[in-house]
Amino acid sequence: MLDIAVIIASTREGSLGATVGRWFLDQAGRRSDLRLDVMDLARTPLPPLQPGPSGDPGHEARALAARVGAADGFVVVTPEYNRGYPAILKLAIDAARHEWAAKPVCFVSYGGHSGGLRAVEQLRLVFAELHVVSLRDTVSFHRVTDRFDESGRLIEPDGANGAAKVMLDQLIWWGTTLREGREARPYAL
Ligand SMILES: Cc1cc2nc3c(=O)[nH]c(=O)nc-3n(C[C@H](O)[C@H](O)[C@H](O)COP(=O)(O)O)c2cc1C
Repeated sequence: MLDIAVIIASTREGSLGATVGRWFLDQAGRRSDLRLDVMDLARTPLPPLQPGPSGDPGHEARALAARVGAADGFVVVTPEYNRGYPAILKLAIDAARHEWAAKPVCFVSYGGHSGGLRAVEQLRLVFAELHVVSLRDTVSFHRVTDRFDESGRLIEPDGANGAAKVMLDQLIWWGTTLREGREARPYAL
């Protein structure tokens, strides 16, 4: 069993993040080799934006870091806002440090014309700083508002379902390989 944290990054009211996230969790839930921890940032207590002077990261950051530490890999489901990823996602990423290291991350992105891919490119830089391996292949929904029907079902599912399978196969390879590596030799930061 591989422990995968699925981070749903959008917290906007009426967000499509829940719809895209539900579709992805349905795909990932079919894999018997994955145990999923859904970190929906709309429902996850997050560290304060303006922390006090004590230097204590706070219980929200500690709880988030523990969940990151328990995972063997990550999937980030993210929209694109003004060519970037949501600010709240950065707050969540920065809540942990060594807990991220030597693990894989992959992306399900969505947006208007760009399909969220420019947000993903920025996230690759952020995760590189944390020693996280970002996978080449992504699942991306451009013009996301046209892609799901009123009940939240993907209108033309074949392409996205196929892309999710490829990405999950790669995530499992990296997640398993890096877990074995961490167990064999501690990763030096
Ligand atoms: C403030 C704002 C900025 C946006 N900027 C972009 C953008 O730069 N590129 C893009 O493709 N879509 C952009 N969009 C479209 C969103 O990606 C799309 O509406 C998506 O559904 C937003 O995710 P959400 O529903 O989870 O909030 C933007 C939407 C908002 C509200």
